[in-house]
Amino acid sequence: MTHDTTPAAQAFDHLMRTRRSVRGFAPGRPVPRALLQQVLQTAACAPSNSNTQPWQLHVLAGDALAALSATLREACDSGAAPAFSHFPDVLPERIAAHQADFGARYYAALGIDRADTAARTAQTVRNYDFFGAPVGLVLTTHRSLRAHSWLDCGLFLQSLMLAAHAHGLATCPQVSFARFDALIGQHLGLPADEVVVCGMSLGYAAADAAVNRMAMPRRAVESFARFRGFA
Ligand SMILES: Cc1cc2nc3c(=O)[nH]c(=O)nc-3n(C[C@H](O)[C@H](O)[C@H](O)COP(=O)(O)O)c2cc1C
Repeated sequence: MTHDTTPAAQAFDHLMRTRRSVRGFAPGRPVPRALLQQVLQTAACAPSNSNTQPWQLHVLAGDALAALSATLREACDSGAAPAFSHFPDVLPERIAAHQADFGARYYAALGIDRADTAARTAQTVRNYDFFGAPVGLVLTTHRSLRAHSWLDCGLFLQSLMLAAHAHGLATCPQVSFARFDALIGQHLGLPADEVVVCGMSLGYAAADAAVNRMAMPRRAVESFARFRGFA
């Protein structure tokens, strides 16, 4: 059974269902600062534990963006990338299956053979060029905070991505930046108590990039929600 719906619900549904992680950006199309500021002010409506709003955001464009990218690429090229794992060594079976499915779709969209380690590494390094986006974001929080404050940061990120999408802007959230917490801190002159949560590319999507046409499948409600006490 479907429910009556309102224009607001329809618009929200559409936004949620059409947002994608974008990894190919229209070259030479900058994002106006005033637009970005509006998007960020909307994103700041995200809820947080005791309204602590633990997120900090470093918004980079132009020379500042190029300089950070160069620093990170250099670290990759010189083999100075620190070991980092954002997942445990052994993933629960279902999670591992989703991860493998993502990898298969991602490299297929890019035309990269999964056995081609060099091509895969080169694609990973593209994260640090913010996939050619005109704006790079680095989200940080206070190093002393715990999992639930990181959850607040996640809510902020999703709010940001949806607000951006509503304005025709594309984004890609990127945990890859967390690997370079120390180097980014040094490069941006961050206080020692600030930790990198993740990065994000932001700009206008390149219309012709195959990598932007991936539609990652989602689990059906029945597979993740257990209803109790309903008629
Ligand atoms: C916290 C987080 C970290 C992510 N890190 C990366 C990353 O480092 N590089 C990347 O290309 N995509 C990254 N992604 C994008 C995911 O791969 C993507 O959200 C997922 O495959 C679902 O696809 P969709 O965003 O297009 O719906 C990240 C997403 C999230 C939420």
